[in-house]
Formats: sequence, structure tokens, C-alpha cells
Amino acid sequence: MEAKLKQLQSIAKEEILSANSSEDLERVRVKYLGKKGELTEVLRGMGALSSEERPLIGKIANEVRAAIEDHLQQARTTIKNKELELKLESEAIDVTMPGKKVPLGKKHPLIQGMDELKEIFISMGFRVAEGPEVETVYYNFDALNAAPNHPSRDMSDTFYINDDVILRTQTSPVQVRVMEKIKPPIRIISPGRCFRNDTPDATHSPMFHQLEGLVVDKGITLADLKGTLEVFAKRFLGEDTKTKFRPHNFPFTEPSAEMDVTCFKCGSKGCGFCKGSGWIELLGAGMVHPNVLRNCGIDPEVYSGFAFGMGIDRLVMSKYNVDDIRLFFENDMRFLNQF
Ligand code: DAH
Repeated sequence: MEAKLKQLQSIAKEEILSANSSEDLERVRVKYLGKKGELTEVLRGMGALSSEERPLIGKIANEVRAAIEDHLQQARTTIKNKELELKLESEAIDVTMPGKKVPLGKKHPLIQGMDELKEIFISMGFRVAEGPEVETVYYNFDALNAAPNHPSRDMSDTFYINDDVILRTQTSPVQVRVMEKIKPPIRIISPGRCFRNDTPDATHSPMFHQLEGLVVDKGITLADLKGTLEVFAKRFLGEDTKTKFRPHNFPFTEPSAEMDVTCFKCGSKGCGFCKGSGWIELLGAGMVHPNVLRNCGIDPEVYSGFAFGMGIDRLVMSKYNVDDIRLFFENDMRFLNQF
């Protein structure tokens, strides 16, 4: 029995030494020291021993158990260290590796253009006002003095939601909303989206952008309009830019004008862009019609004002030589990334 115990110890030791993982080791422990383990099995046979042999074998059995436990403990430490090393190795982070690039978005060219325009007017003391894109017929047409039979009110020009509600065709209704709320002095711009029932082509989009301007105070004259818009044109297009006002007609201004600027492509020599004329049409403007002031509860005998409106899409197109307005709305990164 003594020989059996010694043999058990040496086999167990070998198995312990060849164990590669904590699980292996646990399996070996159960195999020898577990309730149904081989050492336990041997000890169970001790009942058959004589009373002289029993303490002797008992002592050896305890020594064998202690020795196996010792081997197990040592192996446990070795394996744990090895496992920790492996873990550290597999989880190692190379801090010198190049990082993953997070692509940063940027502003849409139209928003960039809008920001540039806003900055110029804000520096002249204007504040930014906003109005709804879904607008009433009253604000978009009636309050702006557009006659009931004005062609722009036609279904073929305007998107109607119902008889009274439309998608705004211009940013001009913001003028009325502002004048209803604040009394003069008023100095606002209002950039935003507009909608017209146009078939898309290179120069038309059913959704486009305008920037509206409005100044109302005592003693505002056409000279203020011209001076303000001239300063704007020079800041936006360059100090050499000249302006020219041509009579025009808008329902909400009297007198009305369109402002042309010297062609910023050819410096007014005449080129393909200005069709040889040397001039580019930039915006509509005029003195606010007394009816519009009255519609907003402002006395035209006391106050006067000027207003203007320009298409942002066309301005940005001219500035960057974009030859098709639809490019702005197709979200093609190859186009957008150029700005
Ligand atoms: N709303 C006009 C348009 O869409 C542009 C315009 C012209 C606005 C003259 C104005 C203005 O405020 O005074 O064509």
C-alpha cells in the first residue's frame, strides 16, 4: 500500500507539471484529491489494514496528500503568471499606431454663402429675423400689397396647401411679421428657404434661398437704400464693384428698382457670364409701399423704409462658377467637398 501511495504521488506530480491551464490543473486536483479521487479511494481501503499498519500508512497518506497539494499550489502560481502574461500580451495597445480618422463634416456651400452675407449686414447693425416656411396667403401676398390677380399667386407658380396656406414664395413675408411685432427703428435681414412651382433645370429649383432686408425709421430715403446696398456690394464682391439701379416693379415697394453690379468675372469688360454687358443683376429693392406699412400698423406719414431681396443660390453659383443649381441639393460629396 505504501508503494501504491508513492506511485500515486509521482504520477500526480507529473500530471500537475504537464497541466497547461487552470482548468487542466483543477481537473488533476479532482482526479486525485476529490471526493471520488484516487487518493481518497486508497484511503478508503485502509479499513482492511491491521492496527499496526494503519497509523503508518495514514501518516504516509497524509504526506502524499500534502505533497500533491504543494505541487498543485506551485503549479497554480506558475500557470496564473503565464495566463496573466498571455492576457497582457493579447490586450496590449500600441499607442504609437496611427488613430482612426473621424471624418469631420462642414457647412454646405449655401450656408457658407448665407453666413458671409449675414456677417456683412450684421456688421452694419442689422439683426437676423426668421419666419415660417409654411406661410399664409395673407403674409406672403395680401399684406405685401400683391393684388388678388397678381400672376405670382397662381397655382402654377405657388405651392398651395389649401386656399389660405402656402409654401412661401419669397422671404418678404418676414418683413410683415417683424413690423407687426416691433416698432421702428427696424433693421433686419432674414435669410431662408423659399418654394416655387418651377420645373428643375440648371437655373431653377422648386426650393431655393433668399435673403430679405428691411429698414424702417423716421426719415429713411432712397439715398439710404442706395448707400447701404452699395456698401454691401463692395464688401461682398470687392471694393472696385460699381452699382446701378434700374426702375422695376414690385407690389410691396414704391419706387422699386433692381440693382446691377459690375461683372465680377470680367471687371465689366464684357464676358460670357455677363453676356457682354459688363453688368450682373444682383437683387430687387425699393422704398416700402405705404400700404405695407399701414397693413402693419405703422404710420407712413411718420415712418419710411426700404427693403431688398436677393437670391442666395444664384449668388453662390456665380461666385464659385457652379453651372447647375441642382448640384446644391444632390448631396454628392465630390461636389460638396470642393467648398
Ligand atoms: N421678394 C422679391 C422676389 O422674390 C425680391 C424683393 C424685391 C424683395 C424687392 C424685396 C424688395 O424686399 O424690396 O423677387
